[in-house]
Amino acid sequence: MIIRLDKFLAEMGYGTRSQVKKELAKGNVTLNGQVIRKPETKVDTEKDRVCWKDEPAVYAEYEYFMLNKPAGVVSATEDKREKTVIDLLSRDGSEQGMPAARRGDLFPVGRLDKDTEGLLLITNDGELAHRLLSPRKHVDKVYYARIRGRVTDEDREAFARGMDIGDDRPALPAELEILDAGETSEVRVTLREGRFHQVKRMFRAVGKEVVYLKRLSMGSLALDEGLAPGEYRRLTEEEVKKLC
Ligand code: URA
Repeated sequence: MIIRLDKFLAEMGYGTRSQVKKELAKGNVTLNGQVIRKPETKVDTEKDRVCWKDEPAVYAEYEYFMLNKPAGVVSATEDKREKTVIDLLSRDGSEQGMPAARRGDLFPVGRLDKDTEGLLLITNDGELAHRLLSPRKHVDKVYYARIRGRVTDEDREAFARGMDIGDDRPALPAELEILDAGETSEVRVTLREGRFHQVKRMFRAVGKEVVYLKRLSMGSLALDEGLAPGEYRRLTEEEVKKLC
């Protein structure tokens, strides 16, 4: 791919186009060993070697990460007050065993509530995100939840019928699997859509409260249980192929 040097660097998260231009003017960027000051210089991303302040800058058109989202961070790219899921990605690989994210335009595919844990796909591939989130595509999302109180067969049937959760359309039928019923129950829920607070609102509609929620999978992509909350890894080529 042939791309302007300033665009290359801005896309790789070294700053805005104007910040990058300033660094170019200071002589902080080399192309194949030569200091380059002209932002419009063309770079062949396959062959050319770009260095930013003596460190190699490698181009990636798309990046795909699987994050085990911890509770307490928001599913956004920026937030004035809260820590975001994008803040958890290491820019320089300094976090132990975690890959360095190169792109500066990464975003989470869909949202998990601040207190929800589990699978979050982070990418800059807008088309893939659109396909996964499109309400018409009905991509399955599977959650593990702990519920205050005993979850019953009637609840399972109500989920299977679909229910009014206060929107203009009822929630689509969802699968509720009861793993353990007691003072606190454990369940697995499969949704075919992704509305705001949907799992919590479906339980509220049957008079119950979600006390813990974790997403286990989205379409063909399953959370790698080897990732502790807050950890992430790149998707394998196989995982990306299956999703696309
Ligand atoms: N449903 C919820 O209620 N919260 C989430 O974070 C995801 C699904």
